[in-house]
Amino acid sequence: MRELLLPYARAFPPALLPARSWQRLMGGLDKHYGTDASLEPETVKELSAWLGAHAGSRAAPAQDRITQTRWFVSEHDEIPAATWKRASM
Ligand code: HEM
Repeated sequence: MRELLLPYARAFPPALLPARSWQRLMGGLDKHYGTDASLEPETVKELSAWLGAHAGSRAAPAQDRITQTRWFVSEHDEIPAATWKRASM
């Protein structure tokens, strides 16, 4: 993997979403959850190939959000609601 991809790899482990979700995300970066996250076409191409090659195999979560995967929800369900309301979060 090229060094360019390392920050993305840390932020978004590819196995956390299926290939279809990554395809949708990478195909619409100009409308990315309410913001414009466009990247150079070369970067999009390279990143898409890498995300696709290492994608997970579970069903796509709502809105292609990692935070909506069953895995994430069950890993975090013990965190009390009050914690998320702390200013430091
Ligand atoms: C190719 C690079 C990127 C990838 C693969 C990516 C992927 C994702 C994913 C998977 C989510 C859903 C997170 C979740 O709720 O589970 C997300 C949310 C988001 N991303 Fe990105 N992202 C990228 C670049 C960016 C950039 C450059 C920006 C800023 C310009 C950005 C801004 C956001 C915002 C604002 C959200 C919504 C957060 C929320 O309201 O929950 N993203 N991104």
